[in-house]
Amino acid sequence: MQNIFINSGKETEVLFDADFVLTDDNLFRIYGPMLPKGTVVMKSGEDNKNLRTVDFIVSQMLAKGVKRSGKVVAFGGGVVGDTLGFAASVYMRGVKWSFVPTSLLAMADSSIGGKTGVNVGFVKNAVGSFSMPDTYIETKYLRTLPSREYQSGMGEIVKTSLLNQDMYDFMQGEFDETEAIKRCVKIKSEIVNKDFMDSGARKALNMGHTVGHAIEMLTGLSHGQSVLIGLRLEMLMMRDYIEHDFFYEAQQYLSSYIKHRVSLRAEDVMRIASSDKKNGDGISVMYASRIGEVKEAVITQDEFLRLFKGAL
Ligand SMILES: NC(=O)c1ccc[n+]([C@@H]2O[C@H](COP(=O)([O-])OP(=O)(O)OC[C@H]3O[C@@H](n4cnc5c(N)ncnc54)[C@H](O)[C@@H]3O)[C@@H](O)[C@H]2O)c1
Repeated sequence: MQNIFINSGKETEVLFDADFVLTDDNLFRIYGPMLPKGTVVMKSGEDNKNLRTVDFIVSQMLAKGVKRSGKVVAFGGGVVGDTLGFAASVYMRGVKWSFVPTSLLAMADSSIGGKTGVNVGFVKNAVGSFSMPDTYIETKYLRTLPSREYQSGMGEIVKTSLLNQDMYDFMQGEFDETEAIKRCVKIKSEIVNKDFMDSGARKALNMGHTVGHAIEMLTGLSHGQSVLIGLRLEMLMMRDYIEHDFFYEAQQYLSSYIKHRVSLRAEDVMRIASSDKKNGDGISVMYASRIGEVKEAVITQDEFLRLFKGAL
């Protein structure tokens, strides 16, 4: 079970008690004066979620004399969390870490479940590990989050709402950010507790991600917005297997959160989808056939191309 604290006010103590704190340069510009002296700063952005940054982090940990029993903390969004989490999980064969998520996406999704990893070339999260942090969510940090990033976080929240009828109904009312985060944390934790190593139930959380990751790589759109477009396109690809009324309702619901238009070549998306580590012989497309019911279709590259072209 993961230790998760929401608006507990404990994060300052955790940060100042740490042997090593990592943040990114954007956050450092805003929160530098509030962070412990010696906080290590990585460059922000998905492009820096890579092995070079892991090398940098590990070198800094060594230079600071962090021991295997040391306390290591990530202060940032999903990129800082995924990268520091991976570095911590391999540093001296694994050191415990904590996560103070600062983006909506990290609060509602990436700080839960202990997946860490970095990208290699075009392959997202090509190396990674399972390493559970203690998570300290403080929603006050959202007040400085740029709106583009807020919209990104909404993408994973909307995805989660397709997994649970109560959450879906809640999303039809006036949006309450703290309540939405609490609900996402609960839904994701329940799934992760059933399937920590991602071999069954947890796959549902990958809905929209096969196409979404390709969109993120090809267009540079934010993760959450790419996932939203991915969810919509994957449902269009699988529309023959989705309850008719739900299909139209979900398309409208997803569209209301999509803020960008993208132009995509099916061949490019297929190439990236084929290299996704989740995909073995075929390409995995996860889709909701109704609220709370996620199905997987494993299809060939030719089928993917045909269905994707039909969805565009
Ligand atoms: N491990 C998981 O289970 C999991 C799940 C979903 C997504 N992810 C990963 O998470 C990453 C995306 O995370 P993200 O959307 O948080 O991206 P991010 O970490 O790049 O943060 C987005 C931007 O917002 C800035 N930012 C963050 N918090 C801020 C704040 N409070 N005030 C001002 N600026 C702030 C960051 O500096 C960055 O520029 C992707 O790499 C994705 O693969 C991981």
